[in-house]
Amino acid sequence: MKKVLFAVLALALLVTGGFAQDKKLTIGFSQVGEEGAWRDAETADVKAVAAERGIDLKFSDGQEKQENQIKAIRSFIAQKVQGIILAPIVETGWEPVLKEAKAHHIPVVLLDRNIKVSDPTLYTTFIGSDFIKEGKRVADWVGKATNGKANIVELQGTVGAGPAIDRQKGFADEIAAKFPGLKIIKSQSGDFNRAGGKQVMEAFLKSDGDNINVVYSHNDDMAVGAIQAIEAAGKVPGKDILVVSIDGVHDGFQNLLDGKENYIVECNPLLANKAFDAIARAVIGETLPKWTVQDDAAFDQAAAADFGIANRKY
Ligand code: AHR
Repeated sequence: MKKVLFAVLALALLVTGGFAQDKKLTIGFSQVGEEGAWRDAETADVKAVAAERGIDLKFSDGQEKQENQIKAIRSFIAQKVQGIILAPIVETGWEPVLKEAKAHHIPVVLLDRNIKVSDPTLYTTFIGSDFIKEGKRVADWVGKATNGKANIVELQGTVGAGPAIDRQKGFADEIAAKFPGLKIIKSQSGDFNRAGGKQVMEAFLKSDGDNINVVYSHNDDMAVGAIQAIEAAGKVPGKDILVVSIDGVHDGFQNLLDGKENYIVECNPLLANKAFDAIARAVIGETLPKWTVQDDAAFDQAAAADFGIANRKY
């Protein structure tokens, strides 16, 4: 009986995108933490869409620790949620807790980052961008802008995180295949946050100063920090050192408009509608594709000026 009720509720959610206030689905959302503007936008989107749809959202901030996220999932299971949205900090280490969710017939939708598991039935679908393609797009732009010759420093995201692994790989593979004159002279994690980007860039500038032509940052927040470090070192970001990154958050976009940054590949964090739809479909027993791909735009300075900051949604 309970199952039938959930199925009806889930179908209503899927078709109408919302419920009457007295027919609430309870869904848990385990977020990585608050590492930057992008993630804050994602959290705000999930909370807003849950409120619009009349979903009872159990939110947990993992404070950048996988163990906190695992605890949160266990607590969602204990609270008998009907679905779980997981934005996983890293790719590995999820199997045991996802087996527990599966044993309780709770669908788990992966939001914005993918995981590595031997049993793909442990999650419903991964909703997010193609991080390898993002890295390739950045490499293609850098190759063209520098006539295929440049020394690059790379600010990587959190160690073990899907986007950090794939953005590094996509970029490295593309330059190996097309631009032998592009050299990655230094590469280090700045943990996807502004302070990390600034600190690592300061170290790069100290050790390699005049040799650096390009900084490739795995996200905009680290690029914002790197730009501060470049300016503090008396150099002009966007000119003396080209700055390229991924995300398209307001501050990154503003840096493009101000000429301090040169190219951004967008990575859209507003995925909540797709995530709640996926849970609703899983609850009624549908099998979803393992990857719900998010398509994104890319902006150089001219494209950013055409688009206009007022049109940025995050
Ligand atoms: O998983 C997506 C990445 O994680 C975003 O690019 C980054 O800003 C975030 O923290």
